[in-house]
Amino acid sequence: MKITRHTMKKAILLSACAVAALFLSSCKSKVPAPTEDSRSPQEILFDDGNYAMFIHFGLYSKLEGVWKDKIYYGNAEWIMNGNQAGIPVDEYMAEAASFNPTEFDADAIVRLAKDAGMKYIIITSKHHEGFAMFDTKASDFDIVDATPLGRDLMGELADACHREGLGIGFYYSQFQDWTAPGGGNGPKYDKDGREVSFDEYFRTKCVPQVEELTTKYGEIELIWFDTPGDMQAGYSEELVQLVRKNQPHALVSSRVGNGMGDYQTLGDMEVPVANVEGRWEGIDVTQVGWGYSRYDNEWKSPGYIVRNLVSTIARGGTWMLNVGPKADGSIPEMAAASLRKAGQWVKRHPEAVYGAGPSPWGHALPWGDAVQQKGKLELVVFDWPRNGELTVPGLKTGVKSARLNGKKLAIKQKDGWLTVKVPVAAPDEYASVIELILDSPAEADGGLAADPRSVTVLPVEFASTSDCLAERSGWMEKFGEWKVRNVVQRFNDSSTVTWTVNFKEPGVFAVDLEYLGGDTVEWKMALDGQEALVDRHRNTPAYAWYPLGWISIGSPGIHELTLSPSDGDIASARVAAMRLTPIDL
Ligand code: GLC
Repeated sequence: MKITRHTMKKAILLSACAVAALFLSSCKSKVPAPTEDSRSPQEILFDDGNYAMFIHFGLYSKLEGVWKDKIYYGNAEWIMNGNQAGIPVDEYMAEAASFNPTEFDADAIVRLAKDAGMKYIIITSKHHEGFAMFDTKASDFDIVDATPLGRDLMGELADACHREGLGIGFYYSQFQDWTAPGGGNGPKYDKDGREVSFDEYFRTKCVPQVEELTTKYGEIELIWFDTPGDMQAGYSEELVQLVRKNQPHALVSSRVGNGMGDYQTLGDMEVPVANVEGRWEGIDVTQVGWGYSRYDNEWKSPGYIVRNLVSTIARGGTWMLNVGPKADGSIPEMAAASLRKAGQWVKRHPEAVYGAGPSPWGHALPWGDAVQQKGKLELVVFDWPRNGELTVPGLKTGVKSARLNGKKLAIKQKDGWLTVKVPVAAPDEYASVIELILDSPAEADGGLAADPRSVTVLPVEFASTSDCLAERSGWMEKFGEWKVRNVVQRFNDSSTVTWTVNFKEPGVFAVDLEYLGGDTVEWKMALDGQEALVDRHRNTPAYAWYPLGWISIGSPGIHELTLSPSDGDIASARVAAMRLTPIDL
């Protein structure tokens, strides 16, 4: 079976589903958007801006991940929920009386987003706990009526964005509301003991608030609905219509539910391995969760930000990165510093981000990734080659010239391989960008190729399998911290996984396998049908790399690497990838 398409399983409540169109063979490039087109300014901002700031700020931010001296790890905006601290509705609502985020500074946030190179901001106007961060007539449980601050923070941020030419949009939790009677996963009865339906909640709180958000704050870019739960299609439809009526050009996120919305949001923290068609967005966090958590110091580095931003754009998407302001409203300094540092890189390499189109290879390359500009390819090199030569496999288009920071580089294009002479040391931190000037639109062979100088990872997405199951496997590490891998599992003793790989030249490669399992497994690897390696390790319940041994590739060109389990706890094994490391002998 060839894996060409995976359907993401709906991950209970927390994550929306995404369909990733995965492909292997030669893929024609989607030419970056022309300038005179029929897209709305909002669509252009989304498609070409490619980088946005997400902000999770709400009453939960006041608690900073701690309730009654206990730390709750993971999604801090879920602290009230029964899966976390399980805070009773009255006690949670009472927190508003001492929520006073006086340091919330819309101008400073806009400055930070601009320094980061981001083009628009999406901020939580009401999250699942039901607290509105704007002045609403539909409820008193909002920042103006229920807190000492008494300021409409959505209005302040929208004004600052409009003044400074950044886009603004609002996140709104349309189904879940844990404090309003009738809201999804909320109380069933009102104060007088009367049962309240979801429909009543929808008409008296959700619709009026979305009306306010789409009429009071000028032109907006987007409404980011979230967690539709089992809301019927009529409700999703009504919300889409409401947004269309008040903001004809604003985009609506796919999490409005029931297959509606203007674009797809992938699962939280996901960078797909293969290009995904259509208009879509990847989202990620600067801490582990979305709302600020005092004890979470796992910040994302500038290198991580640059790599994930470029990788998402190269897969065909737009990236939105979250920051969670602290209880006082200020942005945590570690997140801000990382964003600014990554932003300096974006300013040095705007062509790798703005208006950039997907990689014609359809997947990452061993040393980095590629994005398209009109008539050009930007090679973004994360792992700089060791020997002064960058190898580019399978480019079918002729290359007129190559440049690095404006300086011409020597190139050779032969037998489907392009080699570019590069300085020995990486010229930039995080990633260096080599620009190829093409003689026609970019086209590449999307098959796998082993890099002769750097490490090549071969994910199972690009293998063919027999007698085992290729599946998407998702799990949470901390609460809400989603990890997703495409894996091969349900092995038996006739299972095989085969990667077809193009080698530029003969050589020796170390082969490693990334897998998990319950006990020891013996693996065999055949090279072009001949047994080449046999090895056995004690494995663990988390994915880890294990060496299988060295192989010698005798001739350039296509070779088949076939993995099969031959003994041990085969049934519990899950394989994620193989890796080839060239050995200089
Ligand atoms: C999930 C979480 C939610 C968060 C959202 C961001 O849906 O439930 O807390 O706001 O992801 O993508």
